[in-house]
Amino acid sequence: MTQINIGIIGSGGMARHHLARFAPMETAAVAAIASRNAQTGTQLAKAHETPFIADWHRLVECEDIDGVVICTHNDSHGEIVLAALQADKHVFVEYPLASDVSEGETALELAEKRGRVLRVSHPEAVSNTHKALKQKIGELGDLLLASFVRLTPGRGARPEILFNLPVSGAPAHFFIYHIYPIVDFFGDAASVKKNAVYEGLRENGQYDRFVNTLTVEFERGGIGQWTWAGGIAINAAEEHERYVLTEGTISDAGGEWHCTTPAGVTPLSIPDSPQPTLQELWIAEIRDAIHQPPCFADASVALAAVRISLASGA
Ligand SMILES: NC(=O)c1ccc[n+]([C@@H]2O[C@H](COP(=O)([O-])OP(=O)(O)OC[C@H]3O[C@@H](n4cnc5c(N)ncnc54)[C@H](OP(=O)(O)O)[C@@H]3O)[C@@H](O)[C@H]2O)c1
Repeated sequence: MTQINIGIIGSGGMARHHLARFAPMETAAVAAIASRNAQTGTQLAKAHETPFIADWHRLVECEDIDGVVICTHNDSHGEIVLAALQADKHVFVEYPLASDVSEGETALELAEKRGRVLRVSHPEAVSNTHKALKQKIGELGDLLLASFVRLTPGRGARPEILFNLPVSGAPAHFFIYHIYPIVDFFGDAASVKKNAVYEGLRENGQYDRFVNTLTVEFERGGIGQWTWAGGIAINAAEEHERYVLTEGTISDAGGEWHCTTPAGVTPLSIPDSPQPTLQELWIAEIRDAIHQPPCFADASVALAAVRISLASGA
């Protein structure tokens, strides 16, 4: 079986996460790792017995690399995605797809034109829960309100990255993985309104505490609302999610999904069917791309999510 040669860009948490999944696959081989961080980059390359390349531009140009896995910070995703596609590589990029809408649009156009697979690392593509929610939403009529709230106490393991506007964008952009699933359910937004408050905001774009809200009107009707608050006085992160539809509601209470209709409250039934990993899915898509044009449905949703997250501004 011919292996797909992949190059990893970045040598932090997500690079390690993806490497751990690609390394045991018989259909993929890690051909090089690039990072601006020579220390963690060389360590990771040594651990995977693969060459370290300091400059990601050189990795992207390597002729024997078929696909590029982008695990850098948000501010460089778009540039690296475009360079990789221009070099005719397949792309797997950590979310967000880009931090500039036109970069994201160009990426989709390039991928389509060149027949390259463009997958953004949104896990819903392989999630039974997401599929069950999508089906149930389809059974409960029209959307009235989709509401998502996340409260987070600390500033994470690397606060200089998360609470940092130039590197990660506004919280809505950093937390785009809360926007993607709702856009996958309800489609594009016709309008977006935002509010953002940053406490302790410094000249370099770092801050201590935030509240960021987004309200959209979906083109198909219904309202979507997201609230993120961070650096606040709670012990552990909390999330609340609710879909209010004309025939009933679906809500996430303490990690369990329930549907409420005039007939009563029932737990959402989630099938236990085996799913590939995202990494396996991407490699399978690359192999399929030899015979048929790739599908860009997920990448289009990722781009629609970027349009909303960037409308949150900084
Ligand atoms: N899918 C998920 O579940 C998930 C979870 C968390 C994060 N993410 C996303 O994954 C991405 C990476 O997050 P992480 O937690 O892995 O961050 P991280 O641990 O800080 O690692 C980022 C790595 O990329 C390197 N890097 C950053 N910008 C670069 C550039 N322009 N050129 C070359 N190398 C660069 C960093 O070098 P330095 O060491 O020099 O900074 C570091 O090695 C972020 O976009 C984040 O939003 C996804």
